Amino acid sequence: MDILEFLIEDHVFFKDRLNQLHVLAFTQDFAPNRAVALDLVKDIRKRQKDHLRREVELLFPAMKEALASLKISPIDPSVIHHLQEEHTGIGRNLYLLQQELETLPIGQSWLKSLQRVEEPLLAHIDMEDNRIFPQAVKVISKDILERLSRSIDIFTN
Ligand SMILES: [Fe+2]
Ligand SMILES: [Fe+2]
Repeated sequence: MDILEFLIEDHVFFKDRLNQLHVLAFTQDFAPNRAVALDLVKDIRKRQKDHLRREVELLFPAMKEALASLKISPIDPSVIHHLQEEHTGIGRNLYLLQQELETLPIGQSWLKSLQRVEEPLLAHIDMEDNRIFPQAVKVISKDILERLSRSIDIFTN
């Protein structure tokens, strides 16, 4: 598997957990599901740690290097900087959502906190899946993409 396949798998995982949270948010009686929602948020945060390192420390630098060597860049490199910046905001909002779910009694405000995670995270994933990763396939060789995926072990071991 190359690094993009790992990242896409992570995105599928995040979307699935967000979808479960969304369904829980609209159940009549949320209180009994609070612990389940909290676990879902913790799952996302845990996996997001490695995911972000894979993007910021492995894929994005390789991508920037590849784009810099081209005469005409198919994407503006500032898009990648922007995505990196978004990571910080999404991470903070996930943390706040977890805090909200840990606070008793649970108020309606957690729905707002969920929205603050859901919308930017889905838009971010969409941008990476549909614009960045297809370009990465074009500008980075399969060989390098596979080599980067082997570097993933340094994070997971
Ligand atoms: Fe990202
Ligand atoms: Fe991502």
